Amino acid sequence: MGVRLTRLASVAASAPGKVTLFGEHAVVYGQPAIVGAINRRVTVSIQETGDATFRLRMPDVGEGEAILRLRNGEVKLQSSEPRLRMAALLVSAAMSQVLQEPEKLRGASLRVTSEMPVGAGLGTSAALVVATIAGFSSLLDEKLDTKTMVELARRAELSVQGSSSGMDVCASVVGGMNLFRRTRSSIQFKKLQPREALPVAVGFTPRILDTAQTVRKVAEFRKRKRALVDAIFECIGLVSNRAVQALRDSDLESLGELMNASHGLLSALGISTRELDEMVNAARGAGALGAKLTGAGMGGCVMSLAQSFDKARKIDRALELAGGHPLKLSFSPVGVRVEEATSERM
Ligand code: PMV
Repeated sequence: MGVRLTRLASVAASAPGKVTLFGEHAVVYGQPAIVGAINRRVTVSIQETGDATFRLRMPDVGEGEAILRLRNGEVKLQSSEPRLRMAALLVSAAMSQVLQEPEKLRGASLRVTSEMPVGAGLGTSAALVVATIAGFSSLLDEKLDTKTMVELARRAELSVQGSSSGMDVCASVVGGMNLFRRTRSSIQFKKLQPREALPVAVGFTPRILDTAQTVRKVAEFRKRKRALVDAIFECIGLVSNRAVQALRDSDLESLGELMNASHGLLSALGISTRELDEMVNAARGAGALGAKLTGAGMGGCVMSLAQSFDKARKIDRALELAGGHPLKLSFSPVGVRVEEATSERM
């Protein structure tokens, strides 16, 4: 009898980043938010190797690798090049979520690439976690429904970063634009179908604090001024609800106004910076219908809405003059995807 060789499987899973249109921070306290998946993705290519280790490479971030090992049904980080550490922790947390039957998993080499800057508030962590979960569940032949994938990815993100409403992972899993709400007991999301593509200009400036630190800063403010901060959250929720109709009607003027209101409310929470305000003002000065910080704040991205795609490119130049880095991105309906990996991806 001849030896039967098992073919080592390989997959490439990718998931989009996101831009929060409305509702950041208030969403952590149960208010609705609107989040849109973007046309920039994180791809995790996985090639089974058959040995007991998982080797992670991220050529965009740095040379070297991180080594992960399976121990007692959990994937643990054994060693890592310092620049790969955060990504490696997220990957190991994501893998641990899909290991129903750890004995089914063999070693693999993983290669992660990103089409967006890391730490800009564009949801790279969420996209990495979602793509990792999708990739491994496909290799293990485990079918996950959308809600389960969102929940597993949220838990993985939460275990590493200590804070996650689940909004980013929701956009990464389902794609498109979504009205998102998290209550104490559940996560709800509903696809919004804007009639037309939104001409946005998004600029990036480095962050002073990361998301978990900024969420804590807001929580501390709330401890000191509870009634005030809760009133601001209510207003942010109101703006999100108004924006749903404006999006359905493609009422750009109204959306712009709501973005300006949203930036004022987020500033009132104390999370804007001089650099963000300068970009917001530059975008408005260049004809934007509205502009706001997007994501956790304390640096990161500003998004602005233009009357047309040509005008959005004009705003890009203004964002650059104000010290920002224009990202030229757009919203995308495409959520998580898994394909067979090609050799050049590995
Ligand atoms: O990490 P960012 O910059 O995408 O922002 C997260 C949005 C927050 O509402 C501040 C936090 C959350 O978990 O929703």
